[in-house]
Amino acid sequence: MQKIMVIGAGQMGSGIAQVCAQAGYSIVLNDLKTEFVERGLAVINKNLSRQVDKNKLTAEQRDEILARITPSTTLQDAEGVDLVIEAAVENMEIKTKIFAQLDEIAPKQTILASNTSSLPITEIAAATNRPEKVIGMHFMNPVPVMKLVEIIRGLATADEVYQTIEDITKKIGKVPVEVEDFPGFVANRILMPMINEAIYTLYEGVATKESIDEVMKLGMNHPMGPLTLADFIGLDTCLYIMETLYEGFGDPKYRPCPLLRKYVKAGWLGKKSGRGFYVYE
Ligand code: CAA
Repeated sequence: MQKIMVIGAGQMGSGIAQVCAQAGYSIVLNDLKTEFVERGLAVINKNLSRQVDKNKLTAEQRDEILARITPSTTLQDAEGVDLVIEAAVENMEIKTKIFAQLDEIAPKQTILASNTSSLPITEIAAATNRPEKVIGMHFMNPVPVMKLVEIIRGLATADEVYQTIEDITKKIGKVPVEVEDFPGFVANRILMPMINEAIYTLYEGVATKESIDEVMKLGMNHPMGPLTLADFIGLDTCLYIMETLYEGFGDPKYRPCPLLRKYVKAGWLGKKSGRGFYVYE
């Protein structure tokens, strides 16, 4: 394993590219347009430069890491890579299209991983002729800081593929946790109903948003309160994951709070749109 292609240069994709490049891998960072890739590279540069300012990295090391990342706007660049980590938008149609194309382009031995936060790996794998080489690698946001990677086995994922991905995860300084392919896996099956319940608590007027966040921060030692965290993740993403749990299990306990739906319909998507439960500068 030497060369990794990361598809999607957004918040997750750029973070994944950064940590893999820091671990010494050659990276192809791909997105639809040059400006998207450049934006991702600028975020990586900013993160690494912060580490230089803190004397955790030298300027030469930063430049070497950046030089290991090659920009790309065509999936054809999957031709020469050993692993692809897809971090495109959370949409099954788009993901299956990407995986079907990658299956045509990438060498037969190349492993195809998805950073999906809740979509079934088995279904993504079925879009290819190599389901045994398809696997989930679910990183947490912000990727450079968070230690966990959920590794999700699809129905057909081969043991040696799982082992390779577990080894790479350790090599990039993360902690792998093995998870089976069920809606929301483990992280979001537990996190999202908690966030949804916090939104119900606000919706029913039990407490103010500040109070709800304070209870969970000071009472449970969470680094962020659930409503701040929802804004940080993106309310559209939270709603999408709740819908995936609701449909996947057919259980009303996963119904998304109407207030969450309302905010998403209003375009209040959290930090990224400037307004969610809180207002951002
Ligand atoms: N990118 C890179 N580094 C970042 C960063 C970012 N976006 N945000 C913070 N950092 C770094 C800082 O540079 C700092 O580094 P040093 O220790 O080297 O100085 C360190 O993280 C701590 O940052 P701060 O002191 O500024 O802030 P903090 O202590 O409040 O930590 C936080 C910020 C790490 C985001 C913390 O608030 C936290 O852990 N929040 C919860 C995050 C969480 O739960 N993530 C999971 C979301 S769910 C998910 O991702 C899955 C999904 O599918 C939805």
